[in-house]
Amino acid sequence: MRVMVTGCAGFIGSHLVNRLLADGHQVTGIDSFTDYYPRELKERNNAWNMGKESFQFIEMDLAILTKAELTGVDAIIHLAAQPGVRASWAKFDNYINENLLSTHKLATAAGEAGVKRFVFASSSSVYGDAHAYPTHETTPTIPRSPYGVTKLAGESLLDAHAANFGLEVFALRFFTVYGPGQRPDMAIQRLIRSAIDGGEFRLYGDGHQRRDFTFVADIVDACVRATSSIYPDGTVRLNIGGSGDISMNELISLVESTVGGPVNLSRHPAQLGDVLRTGADGSRSSEILGWKPRVQIEEGVARQVKFELEPTYGTWGSTH
Ligand code: NAD
Ligand code: UGA
Repeated sequence: MRVMVTGCAGFIGSHLVNRLLADGHQVTGIDSFTDYYPRELKERNNAWNMGKESFQFIEMDLAILTKAELTGVDAIIHLAAQPGVRASWAKFDNYINENLLSTHKLATAAGEAGVKRFVFASSSSVYGDAHAYPTHETTPTIPRSPYGVTKLAGESLLDAHAANFGLEVFALRFFTVYGPGQRPDMAIQRLIRSAIDGGEFRLYGDGHQRRDFTFVADIVDACVRATSSIYPDGTVRLNIGGSGDISMNELISLVESTVGGPVNLSRHPAQLGDVLRTGADGSRSSEILGWKPRVQIEEGVARQVKFELEPTYGTWGSTH
């Protein structure tokens, strides 16, 4: 297959391209190197794949994409976005631009170019403080952050493209993703750096909040499966999580014991938009994609720590 990956220089995107190339696919990657975090980190991510046969990289903002870039593409995996829950109150125009306008542009170009399969990076944040745990896809979606609103609206926007243009949309709701190369604004990356360097880790809230952290290779595996699995009727929403949720307090102890040194903790109020708990019911993704998470948090954190200490480690800790 020829697969287009948007956001290919990002945390998840670079792992995904790596896996697709290893599986023998042709990959076109697009990224505009937005300034949400330092460009050199994205260039480092992208360097893992640059120069490999079968990888074509286009530095471009999706805002100017045309159907020409989609010629010969069999499936799109759309990861490019403005991520981050807590930052979404202040810069909501960015979130609208990157998560909605760009998605519309890409889906329109897909329709014009005749590309059917469209995998969309949605988020556990569409549930807000969920009404039930583990959370099934039928649970009401009431986001608690502006970011979550844009991801939920992105799903609805793609429903409209699916209904009018026959797009086959898999909206995969990723649950807090971690692993080698994790974004520098996220908790596990910051905790590991604090335990290694002694820099401050600002804990928001009392540490009792829980997350169903999901290892990046498992996320990548779900994306790959969604490019070729049988398409059921209607737009498909699937939870991609479910190894089991842990509290921030438990996570801090785990990072400390894995690194072998203390986190330099300071305590701060809970942040607007943060939910108390995420926990995925993965039965639907198991049924439709034949997918299950394989990497438990202890093993995944150990791989991320190893990568921070030894950045040339493995192929980004892929298990597949
Ligand atoms: P990331 O920021 O590392 O990667 C996103 C990439 O998209 C960046 O390299 C950025 O430069 C690029 N990009 C953004 N807007 C673009 C545009 N208009 N044109 C071209 N490129 C553009 O983020 P990530 O953590 O790898 O997340 C990838 C996707 O998964 C995002 O859609 C995010 O919302 C979603 N998601 C992530 C998590 C998580 O825990 N990391 C959880 C749920 C959902
Ligand atoms: C993550 C991603 O950042 C979102 O892009 C994604 O959509 C979301 O997962 C999801 O699952 O849908 P989040 O769960 O907030 O969002 O992940 P982290 O940034 O790793 O934060 C986890 C917890 O640690 C939160 O309670 C947060 O408040 C806390 N935290 C984070 C801190 O206490 N201090 C920090 O410096 C960073």
